[in-house]
Amino acid sequence: MPFAHRLKLLQSNVFAEMDQAKAGAKRAGQSIVDLSLGSSDLPVAPHVLGAIAAALPDPDSHGYCLFSGTAAFRAAAARWYGDRFGVSVDPETEVLLLIGSQEGTAHLPLAVLNPGDIALVTDPGYPSHAGGVHLASGQIYPLVLRPEHDFLPQFQEIPPAILDQSRLLILSYPHNPTAATASLAFWRSAVAFCQQYDLVLAHDFPYADLCFTGQPAVSALQADRQKTVTVEFFSFSKSYNMGGFRIGYAIGKAEIIQALRQIKASVDFNQYPGIQQGAIAALTGPQDNVNHTIATYRQRRDAAVAAFLRYDWAVARPQATPYLWVRLPEDWSQRSMEFCTRLVANTGVALAPGIGFGNAGEGYVRIALVQDSEVLEQAVERLCQFCQAATSPYSPGQTGG
Ligand SMILES: Cc1ncc(COP(=O)(O)O)c(C=O)c1O
Repeated sequence: MPFAHRLKLLQSNVFAEMDQAKAGAKRAGQSIVDLSLGSSDLPVAPHVLGAIAAALPDPDSHGYCLFSGTAAFRAAAARWYGDRFGVSVDPETEVLLLIGSQEGTAHLPLAVLNPGDIALVTDPGYPSHAGGVHLASGQIYPLVLRPEHDFLPQFQEIPPAILDQSRLLILSYPHNPTAATASLAFWRSAVAFCQQYDLVLAHDFPYADLCFTGQPAVSALQADRQKTVTVEFFSFSKSYNMGGFRIGYAIGKAEIIQALRQIKASVDFNQYPGIQQGAIAALTGPQDNVNHTIATYRQRRDAAVAAFLRYDWAVARPQATPYLWVRLPEDWSQRSMEFCTRLVANTGVALAPGIGFGNAGEGYVRIALVQDSEVLEQAVERLCQFCQAATSPYSPGQTGG
């Protein structure tokens, strides 16, 4: 039976292969330490769960939820942005509820691109950014992120012919997988670039809170207060450990919000109102749980980096995100997939191969800090011992993100 050509472009072989490798290792008796996914192991705050539980018996929460039904949520999101970033937001026209940030970034290209239009997408980057461009039959121009440029894109390297056909720039900082961060100066340059070439600037911002410097991450809207080109995507999955609840929002230029809303009106009826109540409680209630989440990831980061150092492996200490981006020893520099499948088969430790995030991710692995420090330290030890046994002579990689 023939299916659409785009299915080929959406094949995520790497993660399917890792799934199989994990299942195979489990069958062979390995106990799996799964650090391959960024799914939080930390708890949702009780007041958030309480708000959802309180909504559950209410029959008003059981029907379809149209746009007007999301007003309280949009108001809470707009207020949070004002308080956090000093950006004033109209909840009626500049906020849109999403079923997770991934849903929004994957649908946005349908609203922005005509078939064949180019989207500028980072490589490495979060796979659904490219996925959404494929869904819209757009073309991808990869912005290769290099460690010597702090994993920030170099806009001046993009050929003019590409810029002529480009309609969309998709960025995400703090960045998955490299853990790089972006300054306000960078965002000003990105906004100016999009204004110059008439591009929509989409900023995927799920790690807004997960910074270890004491300062929250910079919003792209701080560099585009008039909302001339920007739409930003916020998620409840990371700050509030609510990945399974599937809720987020888009915030930014009214015309972009309206266009995305039109696409979504053909697709869904918004997230369940009870979960919206939980998200409102998350934004407006006590933030101790967020602070605990940040402190936990910081401590895990330090424990994992120290464990690498005990094997003379200097891994960068990221300023943000629950990830370490680790360059593999030279022998594995073109084989991150094979490295990860062999590592899980031999040790039970599952990591994400860098190639899964784009060609420029080859030679790296991403470690998600989603287990306790002791477990992470043991996993790093097993990884280093695996490298020593499998690599001859042993030569640790250089620092990553
Ligand atoms: C860059 C990025 N965007 C989006 C997501 C998913 O967010 P959500 O759960 O809100 O769809 C992730 C999850 O890891 C991510 O790293």
